[in-house]
Amino acid sequence: MRVSSSVHQPAGARHVRAPPRRAAPPPPRAGSNGNGASGPAPSPHPAQLLSYLGGAPAATLEPQANGKARPAKGDEAAAQQQAPAGGASKTTLLPVYAPDEVFVCPEESSCYSQALEKLVFGRPDAPETVVEFGAGDGAPVISALLKTPYDGACTAFELNASAAQVARSRAQQFGLGSRYEVRTGCFFEGAASHLEALSPEDDSSCLISNPPYLPARDPEGLLMPALYGGRDGAELTRQLLSLGFPRAMMLVSAYSNPVSVLRHAAKEGYGVYDFSAWPLPFGTYSSQPEVRQWISEMKRRGEAFYSERSGMYLIAGVLFRKRSSDDDWPDLSADVLRVLTAL
Ligand SMILES: C[S@@+](CC[C@H](N)C(=O)[O-])C[C@H]1O[C@@H](n2cnc3c(N)ncnc32)[C@H](O)[C@@H]1O
Repeated sequence: MRVSSSVHQPAGARHVRAPPRRAAPPPPRAGSNGNGASGPAPSPHPAQLLSYLGGAPAATLEPQANGKARPAKGDEAAAQQQAPAGGASKTTLLPVYAPDEVFVCPEESSCYSQALEKLVFGRPDAPETVVEFGAGDGAPVISALLKTPYDGACTAFELNASAAQVARSRAQQFGLGSRYEVRTGCFFEGAASHLEALSPEDDSSCLISNPPYLPARDPEGLLMPALYGGRDGAELTRQLLSLGFPRAMMLVSAYSNPVSVLRHAAKEGYGVYDFSAWPLPFGTYSSQPEVRQWISEMKRRGEAFYSERSGMYLIAGVLFRKRSSDDDWPDLSADVLRVLTAL
């Protein structure tokens, strides 16, 4: 099987995890990737999608004074019921910091949505079942489902009750209520039953996520502790790769110890089946002085890769797939690593 990969400039990339004042445009439609990834798609209701992933061209986006993300316009009501902050789950190795606000970052969510389109839902060998860690407001999955002929289902787990509620109502609004089921709760608890139910023959079931990947010495004092990905930012990603899903498509950040992620994936029996990558500027949360200082220390240790000159780093949507002895597809691990460590 021929596998291809690509590096894109995200539509209007500007601030990472920076809350927008207005909604950003939907992600550009992904083209065919050589695997015939994108076929004819149903109308994505473009006018309505405008409120999904974004808003203003990124150049006009500015973080709010307090640096906190806010739910997209129109979703404030649903976001009124906030989940309690600061709770930690006993079921995960890394403490889970319950978010007290809905994650809003059109640039990053747009990359995630494009990756879903190309690497998951738009593939000719699309997975039969898809399980998501952290739906957020649901926009990336909904947008990708609307743009691809995929007719399977996706179950999501979202810790933040407000975000889960927004995602559910959006899925209903777009007629996807039965195909995008968003459950409120911790993924690590919910996914256990999914994995138990997985038959050994199912080699396509796919975990998807734009996981929390912010590195920091410790999560206390972060503007949004729910984005904490462990000391090197990759701890949660490595945990997800240890769950045993046949496939996993996740965003991997160049400043969050990507070498360890690829090494861990190989140890867990994964190869990289396909990927896409985008340059992004540092945003509100990664620009917090303590975080930025920590990331520059990581850079000196060979755990973070970015350009001081441009303030840019790379992010990749990576489709991991468990390898078996009779596989004939090329493992692109070295390629994705070369891209992620390029800056
Ligand atoms: C970086 S945001 C991504 C949101 C959305 N997928 C997107 O790309 O716009 C990560 C999301 O994971 C959620 N989350 C964090 N820990 C979680 C857990 N243990 N179980 C379920 N969701 C979790 C957060 O509330 C947050 O909405």
